[in-house]
Amino acid sequence: VTPKWMLNNPVSLVSTEMNTLAKNIMGLIGSGHPTLNHVTSYYFEAEGKKVRPMLVLLLSRAVSAIPIEKRNNIKIDFTDFETVPVGRDPLQKFLASKPVENFSPLQIIHGIQSMNPLTKEAAPIPEKQFDNERGILPKQRRLAEIVEMIHTASLLHDDVIDHADTRRGRPSGNVAFTNKMAVLAGDFLLGRATVSISRLKNPEVVELMSSSIANLVEGEFMQLHNVATDSGNNDLLTETTPIGKLDLRTHDYKVPVLRPPLTTTRDGMMATLTHEQQQEIINNAFRYYLHKSYLKTASLISKSCRATAILSGAQPEVIESCYNFGKNLGLCFQLVDDMLDFTVSAKELGKPSGADLKLGISTAPVLYAWKEDPSLGPLIQRHFSQQGDIQQVLKSVELHDGVGRTKKLAENYRDMALKCLRDVLPESDSRSALEFLTNSILTRRK
Ligand code: FPP
Ligand code: MG
Ligand code: MG
Repeated sequence: VTPKWMLNNPVSLVSTEMNTLAKNIMGLIGSGHPTLNHVTSYYFEAEGKKVRPMLVLLLSRAVSAIPIEKRNNIKIDFTDFETVPVGRDPLQKFLASKPVENFSPLQIIHGIQSMNPLTKEAAPIPEKQFDNERGILPKQRRLAEIVEMIHTASLLHDDVIDHADTRRGRPSGNVAFTNKMAVLAGDFLLGRATVSISRLKNPEVVELMSSSIANLVEGEFMQLHNVATDSGNNDLLTETTPIGKLDLRTHDYKVPVLRPPLTTTRDGMMATLTHEQQQEIINNAFRYYLHKSYLKTASLISKSCRATAILSGAQPEVIESCYNFGKNLGLCFQLVDDMLDFTVSAKELGKPSGADLKLGISTAPVLYAWKEDPSLGPLIQRHFSQQGDIQQVLKSVELHDGVGRTKKLAENYRDMALKCLRDVLPESDSRSALEFLTNSILTRRK
């Protein structure tokens, strides 16, 4: 059944694929352990936004509107990447009636994708050869599944880290199954996602998606060590670790790696600094925050957009623009997420609200308030751990319109995302749907 919100919605262009997404994922994550299956499938059973797979599918269609002469020759290989889901053997059963040669690659894929993982019954075999009339290649469809698996794995871990009690309107995985099981289930999903990534047999895509997993962890780590005191070490590119000096430079993203921002000086007397010095510290904190947001949210989105374009055989400038589309959209998405944490109730969100301040995390609305109100520095520094801190920061955010200014910034990223789409993609229903989706990020309430 098509979810209600999808009706009369341009995004319903990909509802066929979206409707089978969860079932296809189930086919990739089956294990021999019933309890593990229960935990890994838990978040897929609830109604999530599924923004990431939707982007991959719509972008696949939008790129397919570029004339084929303007794309690299794409080899549609069916047999290579669609092998038997690990841990079961449905292909055998599916093919039992006829010799393999009698099936076309598409029929085999269709058989596997439509297989019910429990009963191992497959849908009737389609007569038609694959004609790509929907503009979505099998590998892109699989990429949509992979990106949702990675995202879900990260949510299982995130809810442990954040001590969440709800997700998608239900008890979160850590509460429903214990921390240990939630962590292991996330690891398992990542493992299976990696198997599927490698089966796409495209080295560039393998590198993109694998590095996005590493980026998620880096982003989460930056958030953990949100704030540092002034150690007097101003070298931004190296960090002393127990195993020696670590070079933080990496080709993986273009912004320089930043040390956790300073919130106060060594003596805690922000007021002794000049206005310019204070603003420099706060601007650095903002850069750190945006970089963290890229890593924890935008990276997975932008890299899957890039991978989508690569799989379509798109030209380099199209690939680059698709990547930048995802990056701007991802940053917009996280800014809105951080804004909703201030404005929407837990009931509406289906997950805890006001969570960031309680976790001691400063996001854009707080950073904007801090720009006007330097007295927030010490509170940010101590992660709002003292009585009255949260109330004071809430008041300051309100007074200095932290939420409104965050919204403005999110709108800037939205506009840049829209420009990336219009720059390289021909007008099409799918491009319009992507524009619709991009715009709706700012009006969402959950
Ligand atoms: C949600 O953020 C969490 C993320 C966007 C990424 C979390 C990443 C990890 C926990 C690293 C481990 C990664 C993998 C791939 C296993 P949030 O807490 O701000 O949002 P919320 O309100 O939805 O909880
Ligand atoms: Mg969280
Ligand atoms: Mg978190």
